[in-house]
This record gives sequence, structure tokens and C-alpha cells, in this order.
Amino acid sequence: MIGKKIVKILVKKIIQTTEKKLMMSSGAFKIMKFFCVGLVLSLFGVTTNSSANEIKRLEKCYALFVKERILKTNPLWIQVAAGTLTGTDACMRIFDKGTLDSTGKISQSAGVYDPIGTKVLSSFLEFHRSQFEVKEYFSKFPSNDLAVADVIDANEPAYHFLYSLFKPNEPFSNTLTRSFGLKSVRFSSFANRTFSVTGINKTLNVVFQGNQTTDDSGAVTVAALPWSITYVPTGNFIGIAPESRLNIVTHPPTQDSFSLNRNVNEHFGSGVIGTQAYLIGNNNKPGPVTGGVTSYRAWSKNLMSDLLCRSLPSLRSSDVLTYVKIDSTLSYRKGISCMQCHASLDYMAGTIRDVRNASVFRNNNDPADVQFYTKVAGSGTFPSTPYPEMEEDADFSKRPAEGSLHYRSYDGTLVNESVSSLADLGQKIILSNDFYACTAKRYYRFLTGIDADLSDLEDPFNAPVLSIGKMNARNQVINLGQQLKQQQSLRLLIKSIISSETFIHPDAGI
Ligand code: HEC
Repeated sequence: MIGKKIVKILVKKIIQTTEKKLMMSSGAFKIMKFFCVGLVLSLFGVTTNSSANEIKRLEKCYALFVKERILKTNPLWIQVAAGTLTGTDACMRIFDKGTLDSTGKISQSAGVYDPIGTKVLSSFLEFHRSQFEVKEYFSKFPSNDLAVADVIDANEPAYHFLYSLFKPNEPFSNTLTRSFGLKSVRFSSFANRTFSVTGINKTLNVVFQGNQTTDDSGAVTVAALPWSITYVPTGNFIGIAPESRLNIVTHPPTQDSFSLNRNVNEHFGSGVIGTQAYLIGNNNKPGPVTGGVTSYRAWSKNLMSDLLCRSLPSLRSSDVLTYVKIDSTLSYRKGISCMQCHASLDYMAGTIRDVRNASVFRNNNDPADVQFYTKVAGSGTFPSTPYPEMEEDADFSKRPAEGSLHYRSYDGTLVNESVSSLADLGQKIILSNDFYACTAKRYYRFLTGIDADLSDLEDPFNAPVLSIGKMNARNQVINLGQQLKQQQSLRLLIKSIISSETFIHPDAGI
């Protein structure tokens, strides 16, 4: 920087003296000035040509996509250094190694899957996993054992983003509208690999696997599994494909009759949010819910943050006056400040009121191994009760799964859409601006390290004051979000960020 300044002063001096001495015509002087600046700059070794920037672009994207340093012997590096390929195009060639074919796999030659492609897939899986509040299952319910992860893949919400990212011509909005689940495609060189559901005998703390069971004396016996399980694939991650597993529970229903004949891997529509993993990971209530004190609002809270980047309170006090009911039996219905969160969360949670938790057992004596969500008996059989009149309701879970998408957007707009089911919630979210701005924010952070602020700047009570640099980042992210909404391509979003000045100079505040 200082070098550049000195150069500028020097150039000015030279020009001034030359001007005086030669008294040139203005056209000739301009040409002279151009050469003079170029000469002095090159003498001082200040790089103004773009080759260094393009190499920087490539080195940076390679480190992010492959998680390794690119070697100078890499053909892409050589081409970029020679100026025959732009850094952005080289980056996109690396990115495209993750492209999925019609069977959902990355490319292979002679039976070997592209090693860079597998690394690109894994890096983006890690990035997309990181955007979720809940990344792994943890024991929220007393008997939730390890085995759930053997049957229900905790990464499935991230797979929905990856499928939109690497499957050609897949509109980004499908991430929230897909009516089927997704699984990872994995490759293992073991010919006869066996998978196992693990369980723990809690009295003895003995781990058993596969079709083994233990009794409380510690004796391990091999028994036929009470239901036929198809496990989550393991091995090297080489792609993503529609979920084809049907894990129908067939065991004698002595402990939880509710699970009988249900598919443990049932998907409820709406891509990411209709997955078992999203329901199990984000719900802390087993259900059925009553729509009052017991509600799946922890799920709504995480959804608002995971997919819309909205934090709480998500409504202004003036938005919720009509929801406040002084004589309500529910504590939060009486307070304006309470309803600034609860009006968003509780009504959104109404869209999954028709599911409840169920358990599967390895056999009739063991503790529950696998928890999952399934439809409440008789769901949809009771008439609907419109919000916001509702109080605690024993039949809440049997009424139509209606709710709303209701919050203040980053630009202060009040979003208030009624929603008729979980599948409809995805349809309503993809019409918002926030889903796209939020995704752009995540990618911008991943690629530049800058965390753009998307809070509602019009909020009279909670608006932050942003510096010029922060305002610039926010505006860039909002524009990228608009572009994503229009183009529906995550690939083009990545390309836009990579080709920007901010990507190579994130500290410049531009
Ligand atoms: C900043 C947002 C926010 C505000 C403000 C808020 N709540 Fe909540 N409330 C939540 C969330 C999120 C949950 C769900 C927590 C969970 O299940 O982990 C919740 C849950 C509850 C529950 C259910 C607890 C249970 O057993 O599951 C009650 C009752 C409640 N809130 C009452 C109130 C009252 C009364 C007020 C106002 C004085 C209030 N809340 C204000 C976010 C809020």
C-alpha cells in the first residue's frame, strides 16, 4: 500500500516536470503519461496485472473445495499462471468434479471414482451440515439409543442441499419441495461388508450388534431380528440418490404397538424439513401435541434459523396485538413480548401437528433402539380450528395440519402466509426472499469468511447500526439472494462469489 503511494507521488512528479519541460500537446501527453505510469509501476514491482489475482482465486477455491493446497504442477495452476484460463473458470472445473450423473454418482474411470470429486462432495457436505443448529442426534428421549443413526441418516437434510448443488438442472427451490427422501451413495471395497444395528443392555452396559441380543445375565445370544432392516449406507461418499429404502416395522407390537406397519424412513414432503432426521433432530417433544403448552415449536425455531436466517423475536410488537388474549389459559398468549416469538413459532409448528414419535424394538425385551416420527392415528379427521382463537386442545393433532409462515423479513416486510400442510410450508418458503438471502449468506461466509448481517433494519426497537463495510456485505448478500431466487442455481451463486473482488480481497470492505 505504502509502496503504491510512493509510486503515485513519484509518477506525479515526473509527469509535472515532463509537462513543464516539453509543453506537449494534450493527446501526446496522455499517451506519454500512460507509458510513464506503466514503466514506473513495473520498476517498483507493483503487480497490477490480474495473473497474480487469478492464481490467488484458484489457490483459495482449491483449498476450500478440496481441502488441500494446489500444486504448481497442477495443469489448472499452469494454465491460470499462463493466462490461458481464468481463476474462476479453473475453480468451476474443480467444483464440477462433484457433478452427479443420472444414477446420482460422480464420474469414474476404470472403476475408480474421481478422487477430487469425492473430496469436493465431502467438503460441501461438511459445509451444509454446519448450517444446521442440530447436526447429530442426541438423547432427547429417555430410551433413544445409538441405533437410530444406523437406520436414519443424520446428514439427510444436508443431502437435500447437495442434490440441488451437484445434480444438473435441479432448481434450487427443490431443496424445500422434494416429495421424496435422499440417501448417500457409498462405495466400499469390502465385498461382503456387514452392517449392524448396535444396542446397549443398560443394566450391564454391554454393547451388542447385528442380530445378537443380551439378557441381563450378560449372555449374548444370536436371534433373528424382529424386523428386516436396511441400514444407512457406509463407505466412501460418491454421490446422492433418491431414498429407496422401506423399513417397515413388522415385529410383534408388544411395547409400542404404534410402530407396527409404519415405515421408519417415511418422508413427509418439503425436502429438507420433511426428513425423519430433521424431525428427530429438532423436536424435543414426543407428541401427540395439544397445540398449547406442548407444541413442536423448538422445531420451528430451528427451521427459522436454519433456512431463513431469522432470529427471535421474529415479529414486532405491533404485529402481534391481535394474537394477545388477556383471558387465555396459556401464559404466553397474555403477553405481547411473548407473542413476538410464539406467534411465529407455534403457528408454524401447527404444520407438523399430525406426527408423533414412535419406537422400534430389537425384540420384545430390549429397550427402544430406533425412534422415528409417524402420522398420529386419525390425523385430519377432526375439523380445523383457525388460529389464533385456539387454546389447549386434546384433538389438536387430529385436525388438519394448518399453520402459518409469519415473520419479519430482513427488509422489514411482514410475511404472513397461511399454510395447509408440511408440504405446503416448503412451497410457501420458496416464495420468500429470506430463504435465498439466507443461503447466499451461508455461501458468502463459507467462501469469503465474512458474516453478513441480515437483521431487520427497520425494526424500531431491535435494529443494529451497521458500519459501511458491514452494510456493503449485507447488500452484496441480498443481491446474491435475489440472483439465486431468479436463476435457481447454486452453481451460479458460487461462481458469482468466486469471481468477485471480495473473494480475493475480503479485508478490503468492498
Ligand atoms: C425470544 C423468543 C421467545 C419469547 C419472547 C418467549 N418465548 Fe416461550 N418459548 C420460546 C421457545 C423457542 C420455546 C420452545 C423451547 C423448547 O421447546 O425448547 C418456548 C416455549 C415456551 C413454553 C412451553 C414450555 C414447554 O414446556 O415446552 C411456554 C409455556 C412459554 N414458552 C411461555 C412463554 C411466556 C409466558 C413468554 C412471555 C413472558 C414467552 N414464552 C416468551 C420462545 C420464546
